[in-house]
Amino acid sequence: MIATDDAIEIEAERLFRSLMHVECDPRGRTWNLETCRSIAPLTLEINRLKREQGAVILAHSYVEPEIIYGVADFRGDSYFLSLKAREAKARVIVFAGVVFMAETAKILSPEARVVVPDRDSGCSLADSLTGEQLRQLKALYPDATVVCYINSTAEVKAESDVCVTSGNVYHIVEHLPARRILFVPDRLMGQNLRDELRKRGVDKEIITSDGTCTVHDEFSPGDIAEARERFPGLKVVAHPECTPDVARAADFVGSTGAMMTYVKTTGAPYYLMLTECGLVGRLEVEAPEKAFIGGCRLCPYMKLNSLEKIRDALQAPRPDQVITLPEDIRLRAARCIERMFELAPKA
Ligand code: 13P
Ligand code: SF4
Repeated sequence: MIATDDAIEIEAERLFRSLMHVECDPRGRTWNLETCRSIAPLTLEINRLKREQGAVILAHSYVEPEIIYGVADFRGDSYFLSLKAREAKARVIVFAGVVFMAETAKILSPEARVVVPDRDSGCSLADSLTGEQLRQLKALYPDATVVCYINSTAEVKAESDVCVTSGNVYHIVEHLPARRILFVPDRLMGQNLRDELRKRGVDKEIITSDGTCTVHDEFSPGDIAEARERFPGLKVVAHPECTPDVARAADFVGSTGAMMTYVKTTGAPYYLMLTECGLVGRLEVEAPEKAFIGGCRLCPYMKLNSLEKIRDALQAPRPDQVITLPEDIRLRAARCIERMFELAPKA
């Protein structure tokens, strides 16, 4: 169905109200009314397909702003989106994020058809550890409780006792009865966890595997020192996938959702966001009075998502866009994620 000129104009104005604030655009676009007009036919088409198919679109905050503000039903961090996937009751879930997030949605909503815009949207953390490698590690530490970060494959989740996200890792591990924890696959988050537990006076041994996030492991304390000198009063906001040196030098460390809340509720002249640039785009829209000094980086996997690929995945998904999981793995992975919901702090 071809949209009328009037419908396109109304849609362009709707998009413009949010996107006009975005300066940190991954493709360097200027979000004026003309740019919004150019994508309006596509967002109209996607929103129509969504209604026809009983679909919901979940978008992680790192994907491009036209997805987040043009077509997403829910936008946020991994924890929030897994809750939404679990309660969605939708026939179709399109996950604009990366594959491990879509797998999590399939684990929690097995009746839904879960599709990804681009099957190559991996994650350096999830890709760093296979189920077989975890089985070998478990054999070395048979008495350890196995905690997996949600940035892991379904098979790794199936081999783990409990899943965590960046927003609840410290709380959940602190309250586990075991002293010895095998934490996979993020070595840097594991080190930050060790530091945080020490600060809280909690005695635990944290053993990690060797994955890192290709975006967050690149920030350095030097970036922070230089920025602080140039921008007095600056607040430095970091993700727990950053190195411990960076986490120690930051003013706040938390999940992308918590980072957004921190910025929105803190009065500071400038912010340095040590995370993926998509989060800065979201804050420019939702906290337009705040000033960001740059420094963020792009995740090449998140940036594989696009409106065109979302439209195709809804209209006629290719087999590679549809998430399927062996049922025994799905069931075991579901237990590990449900354990997280039981142990996570209640909002
Ligand atoms: P959040 O759950 O904090 O959004 O983190 C997801 C992620 O992939 C960070 O790199
Ligand atoms: Fe994975 Fe890092 Fe990209 Fe997050 S930012 S999806 S952890 S590679």
